[in-house]
Order: sequence, then structure tokens, then C-alpha cells
Amino acid sequence: MAIVYNESKKTFSLHTARTTYQFKIGNLNYVKHLYYGATIHDEDLVYLIRQYDRGFSGNPYDSLQERSFSLDAQPQEFTTQQQGDFRINSIEVQNADGSFSFNGRYLSHRFYPGPFTLNGLPTAFAQDDDTVDTVELTIEDAVTKVQVTLLYSVFEEKDIIMRAARVHNGGEGPISLKRIMSFNMDYLNGRDLDLISLPGRYGQERQVERQPLTHHVHKIRSGRGISSHQQNPFIALVEKTTTEDYGACYGFALMYSGSFLAEAELDQYDQARLVMGINDRLFSYEVGPGEDFDTPAVLMTYTHKGLARMSHTYHNFFRSNLNRSRFVKDIRRPILLNTWEAAFFDFDDEKLIEIARAAKDMGVEMIVMDDGWFGKRNDDNSSLGDWYVNEEKIKCGLTQLVRQINDLGMKFGIWFEPEMVSEDSDLFRAHPDWIMEIPGRHAVRSRNQLVLDVGRKEVQDYLIKSINRILDSANIYYVKWDINRAITDLWSNALPAEKQGEVSHRYVLGLYRVMDGIIKTHPDIMFEGCAGGGGRFDPAMLTWFVQYWSSDNTKPLDNLKLHYGSSFLYPVSTMGAHVSVASPMVPLETKAAIAMCGTFGYELDATRLKKKERTICKKMSALYHKYYDLNFFGDYYRLANPFEQVNLVAWETVSKDKSEALVTVVTVQLTVNGPQEYIKCKGLEPNRYYRLEGDGNVLTATGMALMHAGIPIPREIPEFTAFIYHLKAL
Ligand code: DGJ
Repeated sequence: MAIVYNESKKTFSLHTARTTYQFKIGNLNYVKHLYYGATIHDEDLVYLIRQYDRGFSGNPYDSLQERSFSLDAQPQEFTTQQQGDFRINSIEVQNADGSFSFNGRYLSHRFYPGPFTLNGLPTAFAQDDDTVDTVELTIEDAVTKVQVTLLYSVFEEKDIIMRAARVHNGGEGPISLKRIMSFNMDYLNGRDLDLISLPGRYGQERQVERQPLTHHVHKIRSGRGISSHQQNPFIALVEKTTTEDYGACYGFALMYSGSFLAEAELDQYDQARLVMGINDRLFSYEVGPGEDFDTPAVLMTYTHKGLARMSHTYHNFFRSNLNRSRFVKDIRRPILLNTWEAAFFDFDDEKLIEIARAAKDMGVEMIVMDDGWFGKRNDDNSSLGDWYVNEEKIKCGLTQLVRQINDLGMKFGIWFEPEMVSEDSDLFRAHPDWIMEIPGRHAVRSRNQLVLDVGRKEVQDYLIKSINRILDSANIYYVKWDINRAITDLWSNALPAEKQGEVSHRYVLGLYRVMDGIIKTHPDIMFEGCAGGGGRFDPAMLTWFVQYWSSDNTKPLDNLKLHYGSSFLYPVSTMGAHVSVASPMVPLETKAAIAMCGTFGYELDATRLKKKERTICKKMSALYHKYYDLNFFGDYYRLANPFEQVNLVAWETVSKDKSEALVTVVTVQLTVNGPQEYIKCKGLEPNRYYRLEGDGNVLTATGMALMHAGIPIPREIPEFTAFIYHLKAL
């Protein structure tokens, strides 16, 4: 049992293989947080909390004048509201009588095997050989009867604790949630913590930022209705001394694809608090008597072995506990060529066949027909929502086109952007009230398109039906599911005025229902997510999509940073990465080596490549397949940081049994007559000998030597050369 409850001490100790998380029903039945860190026994750690009178920090009424007990200083599992705790809080509720107050005290708890599930929201599942136990602990406000159930599922071997909160309105009138976070995490001492986040922008997603936690509220958030290019719903709190290889790291990955919020604060006593959940901006949610509201889940992990270990924990978990598709592990994903950068909107069936013929020569196994195949779409002004084939372009019809591609020995993939509608579309003409537009105003246009009110059931049903009809009409192997704008003008014509604060969250719930209705009903189709690149690349999306298009930026050198940042959380097997014609000064081999840090493919017009170039691509495609298992399922190490001024960028994947490794080195700049550069490997078996090849030389050295002394990188070479070193244990 991963959870130990001590009845007399009232402590709950949650044990994963290498960590312990502890809380306790404490003074006045408030639930105290006691510990999260490396494994300890089940001893009661309440001794860590020293109570003393704190100026200007009030005391709950029933502490009977006990001035040393203040919620303003107590570490808690979930916060109260207006009970004298002035730090950031996890709940803001307006009660049926209009008051803003919540005073949650322990009510009950229960245990059960297996992970919790949530209403309409994705959660992680257990594999057959996982030990997973759950505790649900309910706190209640005695006056309003509003309850919050704190859910904890402990994935023992995986070192992951999944948390969420469920609000139940046990009172007699409706309540309005103004803010409800998925969890609250308190640290007794936060003085030495840094905060790592993955900010970015369109075309430059998931860069890395590290900043000290100081005495103010740090906010990492998206208010764009999608998890966004600008921030990712992930943060890590790490000790100042933490590096890739050593030091404490706490990771928090929110399973939510809409506007989210993470707030972290160092309080007046140098304690830290972190909350994360649905963004409370433009949010309120009515919960009627007897009703529940579930928050999204968060995946937490802790290690004192540095950032690489934290990433490995997430990579392993994402590869096994988020998505049941056979394309995750059992079916090898084909090398695709996507037509977007090859033809944009300018193609027809003949052009696609031509591209496919040329691409076959490059080792391409699947042609993906991107935007432009439906309605009468020839540019981005029309037809979104009209999910039927444009027979002026696809003259032979979709079924026949797919057949012809299949006859070339290739698979076929197709693009959709389900959540959007063009004003110039049959769908909009038929249902102008299905869009989000605030009455009396004109909705913001972005890429000339409008957002469907996906929270509405009839919109969901239309999307499920019209898209499934296309998927069932031909032998479609793959779908790219795109969204190309942020969400504004939150309004639903289907909701009364007092429920308009629910639109953003209802949109996300609606989207998840649509994805269930399309993706879960087509287990033989491989689905890739996309949001103008990686604008909605998040852990929730990975429960439906086996991979996510990382960025519209296919410049290989920019991708070095993008892959580095993404790798903090996301495994190689989830990151869409393609070779394109961008950056002509970078050799094709180097572009391919960089794209191999993701789910390798091409984004170019194969008919325009020279024979020689297609031969290089063929060689690189073969290499991708040769190292597929190692690359997709091995342990990934960041070896050189592209955000620092370095001459080389390097990364490595080591097989689980350490018998093999792949080290990729890209020379970014080489100064004339400069020093010899070395790259030090990681994760090898110290005492084993490895045979290494990749730069024309063959070398035999121990893991120890390769890790502590490194590999000398050839110098007299052109810039932007990539070396792919293969290491094989002898
Ligand atoms: C944005 C995507 O990221 C691109 O790859 C492409 O699919 C376009 N949308 C098509 O409109």
C-alpha cells in the first residue's frame, strides 16, 4: 500500500519509490501539510512546525485566544478564505448568502486502489504492473456545507502523485466559484528555491527561464483559452544549487488545455506557497445544491537527483500512463511528409501524387494532406467548418486519392481545424449563433476566423459527426488536429447572463468531449495535435494525441532551443519535428539529426529536391528507423545548453539497459584556431567498455571515461555539422 494512515497521529504518508508526501489532520481539524521530499518513514513530522505569536496574523475564533495558531503561517493542504491567511489562496467562493468565505476543516477520508478519475477531464491511468493507491480527503465548511475533496493518487513505482480537488455544494442554495485551484503546495522553507518555467511565443515555444522565488506573487499563466505558446502549464521549483545532475526539484504539470494559472509566493516568513489550476481571470462557475465541480489534475514529482531525473520521471510517465493508443508503443510511427510548407493551399490530387512519388525515394512512408482540401478553401479566408472534400482540388475524390497513395505503398494523413469557423462558410451561414461573440460587439478576428462555442452540445455533435464522416470515408491513417488562434470574446448564446463566466472552461470540457467522440472512436488512426505549432502542447492533450507539432518554426537552429526546453517535460516520442527547406546554410544531414530529437518527418516539396538530396534524406530516414527504439524509449539527457554561449549543442539517449546510447552533437559556431571541444556523456555503465563511432573514427572507452573525460569533437569541419555518435557496450 503506497499510502499509510496512522490513526492515532492522524498522519497520511504517501510513498512513491523514492519520495514521501505527508499531511495530517491537525489543530482545530485543519489539514496541515508536513512534508514532500526524499523517502522517510511514517513518523509524524509535525515537530517541524513551531507555533509562536505572529504579529498581525490573526487566529481562528475557536483557537480560544491561542495567539500562536494562525493560518497565515500554517502549512496547509488547501487554503481557507477570509480566515486570516493572507497568502495566495486555492479557493474563492461566493456563498449562497453572498458572503465570500470558506473555512474547510477535516470531515472524512477514504482509500481505494487505482487512480481517481474526473468528470469530463483527463487523468493518468494505471498500467497493469503499476501500484496505484488513492486517498480522498474531504474538508467542509460547517456553516455553508461547501465541501472540497482533495484527491491524491500515488503512482508508486513511477514517483508521481496525481492531485486534484472536487468541490461539492452540500448547502441549499447555489454557490459561485470565483477561483478554484487544483492543489495547494506549502513549503516550510522556500528561501532557497528557484522557479523554472517554459515561456515562449509563436514560433519560439517552450524556452527555459529560471528565476529566484522572491517576496511577491510570481504568476505563470495563459489567458488565451489555450495552454498557449507563451507559457506551458508546467513549472518546477528547484533549489538554487540544483543542476542537471544534482539537487532538489519539484515538478508540477497541469493536465489542462485552456487558460491556466500558476502562482508562487515567498511569504513574510520565507515559507513558499504554490497553487496551480484553471485561470481565475474571466472565470466564475455556478455550482448548484448537490452538484460537484472537478478541477483539472496535476502531476507532481520530486527528486533530489537534479533536473535530468525529473525529466526522466515525466518522460517515463508520459510514455506509459497518459495515452492508451497503440501508436504510443506497439505500432512504429511512419515517417511522414506534410504538404503545408510544400504547397500551402496550392495543390490538387495530381500534385499530391507527384509529391508522394518523389517522397518515396526519401524513405517517406506517409503523405499528410494539410490545410486546403475542404469546402472551397484556397486561402485562409474561407471554409473552416465545412468538413467536406473540395472536389475542384481533389478531383478524384478522397477515397480514390487515398487509394492511389496506398498503391504507392504509402499511408495517408489529413488535417482538420475542428474548433474554428470562417464567416465565409456554409456552417456559419447556417448557424451564426454558434460562434463566440459578445452581443452588440464584433468578435476579434484572428487569421480571419471565428471561434465556435465548443461548450455547446449541438456544436460538439456537429463536429463529431462531420469529422467522423470524413474519417470513415477513406483509408485514413493519421490526423493532424490544428487550432490557429487564441480564444477571445467569451460568450455563449446558449447560457444565461449569470453563467457567462463558465464559457472558457465549458469550451475545454466540450473540446475534450469532441476529442473523445472522434479520437477514442478511431483507435486505428494516429492523431497528432497542433496549435499553430506548439500552442496547446500540454499533458492533457497527450492523453489523446500521441505526438504534438512542436512549432511552426522549422529552422533547425531554433529547434535546438525548442527541443531543449520541451525536453524538461516532454519525451522525444511526443515532439513533432520535421526537416524543411528553411535555413539553407544548414546541411540536410544536420537538419535531420535535429529532427530526430522528435518524431522525425519532412515538411517540403519532395519534387523540388535534387536526386542527391533525396538520397541524403533516404539515408537519414533509415537512420531514424535504425535508432527508433533507442530514441523513443531511452533515457534522454541534455548535454549542452543552447541558451548558454557554447560552440556545441548536444543531447543523448541511453537505452534502459545501458547497452546502447546515441549522442548527437551539433557545431553551432567554431572559432578559428579555437580550443578542442569535448562532450561528456551521461547515464552510461561506468565499468563497461563502449565502442563508439560517428565522426569517422572508432573509439573504445569505458563509460567512466566517456562520462568524466568525454568525447573529443573534430574541429576542422564546417559549422552546422552534426555528429550522431552511436555507443554500443562490448
Ligand atoms: C498551423 C500549423 O502549425 C501548420 O503546420 C499548418 O498546419 C497550418 N496551421 C495550416 O493552416
